[in-house]
Amino acid sequence: MKKIKEITKGKAKSMFTTENDDYLVMHFSDDTSAFDGKKKEALLGKGAVNNQFNAFIMDHLEQNGVETHLIEVIDATDSLVYKLEMFPIECVIRNRASGSICKRLGTEDGLILENPLFEFFLKDDDLGDPLINDEHIISFEWADSNQIQEMKKQTYLVNEILSKLFLDSGLILVDFKVEFGVYKDKILLADEFTPDGCRLWDVNTLKKMDKDRFRQGLGDVVESYHQVAERLGMNIET
Ligand code: ADP
Ligand code: TMP
Ligand code: ASP
Repeated sequence: MKKIKEITKGKAKSMFTTENDDYLVMHFSDDTSAFDGKKKEALLGKGAVNNQFNAFIMDHLEQNGVETHLIEVIDATDSLVYKLEMFPIECVIRNRASGSICKRLGTEDGLILENPLFEFFLKDDDLGDPLINDEHIISFEWADSNQIQEMKKQTYLVNEILSKLFLDSGLILVDFKVEFGVYKDKILLADEFTPDGCRLWDVNTLKKMDKDRFRQGLGDVVESYHQVAERLGMNIET
């Protein structure tokens, strides 16, 4: 399906209309950003690896009972998805403490959370994606209570499925962020699941294999994404 018009250009992806009003083309660019857009760089080949990584993960989730927006991969950097009404919120699960929670609560980096921790964030770069709770979401009508419950349930299911998938490849799923939207009254997992939006550590060395390599200037960002893809058995077209 052909791209007609770019309707949004985000920090890492662009969305295009198609001849079918229900579908969008999701294009993964090489642009990489962190700290709510304050650090930016184009990393050659990141768009291609992330598009194909995302499709592999979304397919695996579908096979395990999570409904997603992905229809099909079009080419190396583009995928066809259902056009959703997105919730302006981000769902995060943490299996270990790292990143913002360590700053916020003074927690030791890497602390294992026996009960995975669910958090909502408001999707607003200008405000620095603040932490919010169910009450904020209800009061500001970003979603209703059934939708909140459904997003939590699906995010926990994603955690269960993917923690196992990554661990089988020698990787710890430390934390991740997902987004949901509505398509014809149904809540679907949307946006992307790639090393840009999660933390993955080698199970033996605890080496970081995700976007923290970019955030912390550790180098070999795209190379690490390829290594993760290879461990999961993906065949990435560059
Ligand atoms: P950001 O908005 O954080 O800069 P991206 O560069 O990843 O992020 O842009 C992708 C945008 O498209 C995000 O705002 C995301 O919420 C939105 N989006 C993802 N999937 C869909 C979908 N299926 N339908 C409509 N919008 C979507
Ligand atoms: P945090 O430690 O910055 O709160 O992020 C937790 C996880 O969620 C981490 O893997 C990065 C991901 N995340 C995003 O990708 N985008 C976001 O806007 C937020 C808040 C988190
Ligand atoms: N807040 C996330 C980060 O620091 C996402 C982003 O800003 O792009 O990477």
